[in-house]
Amino acid sequence: MSIRLDKITERSSMAQQKKLQYSAVILAAGKGTRMKSPLPKVLHPVAGEPMISKIVRACQQAEIQDVRVVLGHGQTLVKSVLENSQVSIFSQVQQLGTADAVRSAQPESFNERVLILNGDHPLIEAADLEKILKEFENQKCDIAVVTCILKDPKSFGRIVRHKGQLVAIVEAKDASAETLKIREINTGIYIAKSDAIQDLLPQIQNQNAQREFYLTDLISLGIEQGYKVAALATSPKMALGVNNQVELAQASRIVYRRKAQKLMENGVLIVNPRATYVEESVQIGEGSVLFPNSFLRGNTVVGSCSVIEPNCFISDAVIGDGVQIRAGTYIEKSKIDSKVTLGPYARLRPETHLEEESHVGNFVEMKKVKFGARSKAGHLTYLGDAEVGKDSNIGCGTITCNYAVNKQKYRTKIGDRVFVGSDTQFVAPIIVGDDAVIGSGSTITKDVPSKALAVARGRQMTKENYVQTPELSTSTEDNVKTQNTENLK
Ligand code: UD1
Ligand code: CA
Repeated sequence: MSIRLDKITERSSMAQQKKLQYSAVILAAGKGTRMKSPLPKVLHPVAGEPMISKIVRACQQAEIQDVRVVLGHGQTLVKSVLENSQVSIFSQVQQLGTADAVRSAQPESFNERVLILNGDHPLIEAADLEKILKEFENQKCDIAVVTCILKDPKSFGRIVRHKGQLVAIVEAKDASAETLKIREINTGIYIAKSDAIQDLLPQIQNQNAQREFYLTDLISLGIEQGYKVAALATSPKMALGVNNQVELAQASRIVYRRKAQKLMENGVLIVNPRATYVEESVQIGEGSVLFPNSFLRGNTVVGSCSVIEPNCFISDAVIGDGVQIRAGTYIEKSKIDSKVTLGPYARLRPETHLEEESHVGNFVEMKKVKFGARSKAGHLTYLGDAEVGKDSNIGCGTITCNYAVNKQKYRTKIGDRVFVGSDTQFVAPIIVGDDAVIGSGSTITKDVPSKALAVARGRQMTKENYVQTPELSTSTEDNVKTQNTENLK
């Protein structure tokens, strides 16, 4: 008997937990004429990331299982950017309006709830969406529009109410002077039961100033036909749409500031949050210090107690703890282990790995290099397609000549505890054994065995009394002439 009761309780709690299934439709077919840019509007980067990717991510983080994007202008390019983001793409052949755009996204196959968003509102975060979805269920409505109050409502659609009750959305272009005074606006975000949307969408007409099928008509139509329609009020940031370059820069600034804020809350020391450019995807450990004007991008991860001085560009790098990156350093797709010191003015190109406590100093460039623990390349060096063991010293001005006349790249392999004198060239392929010593100014063309000394340079020739002491002469010109003729002898 008791077993059965248990089963019943289990089943009912499972029913309560059953999650609603959501679809999201992101409208992104418009041209974005006011951007005055050849790039499709939704690909413009906000804090380093295309707007559209930000919105898609917010939807996915809010656990919306089915994300649909409606594309039109520049769709080939936009599609290529969205390739790996698990969204369904729909084409709107002609931009006949926002309602027509939703019609292009196969409404008949929407999940139980559908969230509609504009592709040019990049500041929306998953938490905002979750709040909206929850509020919609709490209010038990059929259709809701997300609104906010703005000081300057510009060209936003106005929320028209009668005695506090929602009546309609009126587009600025269709509004009377009186309606334009309304400061509550349509953010362009809607949430609805999909059967309500499926019922109302085909009924929307294009009798308006722009001869467009306005999605905003959902509201008045819904009310007329007895659906429960609500306005969900949120903060003005939800309304920040990007329609021109000024608004794009404004959006980037907000996202960078928001990220700096989060980092500071997690114990990162930021010298000037207004001049800090860390992309949302980047992680930084506590106790690390960020000086101004550095860009940290993509999948960069920084450990704890590392210092990044001003004007560094760091993209897709994995950086350990206690690393010192000095001013003006440029790093791409590289790995830097703990306690490395790097720069100022160093450049790490992709596939470089600096092991623990190594030191790479000023004006050093590396590409596809594995640089061993505690090794040093202090100044003015190029290492490409190379491997350097532990505790080796690479003298100033060392170059791996990795690129041959046949356009092939060749590798240089240097062992542990090798001492490379300054101004050495390694004509790859070359292998230098452990504990070897290379004399300064050598051009190394043959492998060097372990513990050997290799010197490959012209022997010094010294000609004594080479310079004539000028004799006392009346004419300096004569003097010069004599010297020059002497030189030719
Ligand atoms: C729209 C709303 C307005 C709201 C504002 C919020 C309508 C009629 N108006 O105005 O009430 O205050 O958003 O920003 O909905 N799009 C398509 N296909 C089309 C037309 C538009 O995909 O045929 C896309 C655009 O790319 C854009 C979004 O829909 O991402 C909104 O279109 P836009 O023309 O910018 O509408 P607004 O005039 O801003
Ligand atoms: Ca817009």
